[in-house]
Amino acid sequence: MKLLEPFDVGAARLPNRVVLTAMVTRLSGEDGHVNREIRDRYVRFAKGEPGLIVLEAMAVHEAKSGPLLRIGDDRFLPGLTDLGRAIHDAGPSKVFPQIIHFLKISRSGWRQKISDLTLPEIRSITENYAAAAERARRAGFDGVELHMAHAYTLSSFLSARNARGDEYGRSLENRMRLPTEVIASVRRAIGDGFPLGVRFDAEECIKDGYTILDARQIALRFARLGADYLSLSAGGKFEDAIHKAGDPLYPYTGYSGDRCMPPDSYPDGANNLLAAGVKAFLLAHRSATPVVTTGKIRSPREAEEILARGDADLIGMARALLADPDWTKKVKENREGAIVRCIYGNVCKNLDENFKRVRCVLWPAGSLQAPQSFDTEAPTWPSGRELVATAKAGRISLFWKPAADGEAVYGYEVLRAEAGAAAVHVTSVKGCSYNDYDVVAGVAYTYTVRAYDLAGNRSVPTDPAGAVLSYPEAARERLSGRVS
Ligand SMILES: Cc1cc2nc3c(=O)[nH]c(=O)nc-3n(C[C@H](O)[C@H](O)[C@H](O)COP(=O)(O)O)c2cc1C
Ligand code: SF4
Repeated sequence: MKLLEPFDVGAARLPNRVVLTAMVTRLSGEDGHVNREIRDRYVRFAKGEPGLIVLEAMAVHEAKSGPLLRIGDDRFLPGLTDLGRAIHDAGPSKVFPQIIHFLKISRSGWRQKISDLTLPEIRSITENYAAAAERARRAGFDGVELHMAHAYTLSSFLSARNARGDEYGRSLENRMRLPTEVIASVRRAIGDGFPLGVRFDAEECIKDGYTILDARQIALRFARLGADYLSLSAGGKFEDAIHKAGDPLYPYTGYSGDRCMPPDSYPDGANNLLAAGVKAFLLAHRSATPVVTTGKIRSPREAEEILARGDADLIGMARALLADPDWTKKVKENREGAIVRCIYGNVCKNLDENFKRVRCVLWPAGSLQAPQSFDTEAPTWPSGRELVATAKAGRISLFWKPAADGEAVYGYEVLRAEAGAAAVHVTSVKGCSYNDYDVVAGVAYTYTVRAYDLAGNRSVPTDPAGAVLSYPEAARERLSGRVS
């Protein structure tokens, strides 16, 4: 499997091509120091053996924020050093911190814009990045990732909405000026041997934002500047964010937020076309700089297909690994069937939005870390495997009896087959019922449910149960018989 082959990112040899992309945990205090919860979170990720762990965005400067890690001063070095050591001790993954600069926002909805920045302030951003990257090297990390995606400072400079009237705005060349200066001065600070990745949007996903046409040029510039990989994201902008009175603006609440963290209504691999376009452009310009693609990639088969097509070199996953940090290890051990699947309901994102400690809704209630279990016995159905499916007004309701497990039943997977086709995973729930609203009249749906335990072992399925919704009364005569 290509996915499990080692891959070189500059001087860092990743043990495989799975990348845990950065995910703010809100586990730190406002002081920005590493604490036990953060250490436990990343050690848990490391036990699952992804090739690269990109640590959550940490601030390069001293600006006020909610709970967020910081790397803007040497006082953070002992905690960061200890974090890197703990992750390295727990598994073979390489570890890069993601470093970020952001502007001020307030609860009133006001936000500082890049047009407000003076030239000395712009210069200090470059200095902050260089010093933070050099600190990452001193902390013993394996590389560093510069955050130039989403709503933050460098992304706002890259943005097609950057209307600064000086040499830092309007034209694409001017919009790339500060990111170019930052990469060059970071490289000077860390030297050639220390791996440097850059994350940026392959499309802004806002009105008048840039699209893949600019992203291809940005990628080529960064590649030529010596970036060791390019991690592509999408959207996540302030411009279309929805402001809730009394809360700071959260850049993942609008359409661009959905494009960044695609919810269950989006197809798998939602942003992969963007990665494929950027990768092809780089190759056409004789650049072999590796590309990371991210966005609702969840199955090993899909990841393998992306690599086989050459759409990207590395597979980025955030929520799939939050739901099951052992994803990579299970693939390595041929236990894909035991992966606990993310349902993309974005509860984790909502926690981040509200400055609450980020966890996965699938984890046992109250737990701050994903469970770890070595149980090998699958759950059973002591009260029988009957599944009841009832077609109601515009939805299909399912009910089943509880399963049992020697350790604990963790959840139930709902599987659905349409008109005799192969069954697909619809969602996972904790209780013994589910209402399926994603159904249309005239289609024969067949459902089964499987219980899974903390280790991801699946029970045998329930007996299948079928249901068909009827058409609305007013149009029944016209629609019946016209569908296949
Ligand atoms: C709770 C949460 C926090 C995130 N924090 C960051 C971050 O600090 N930096 C970043 O570049 N992306 C961040 N992301 C975006 C993810 O890295 C990833 O690009 C996105 O979730 C889509 O990938 P996925 O479908 O595999 O989850 C965050 C996503 C989530 C859900
Ligand atoms: S909270 Fe939901 S979207 Fe987030 S990781 Fe868990 S299952 Fe996935």
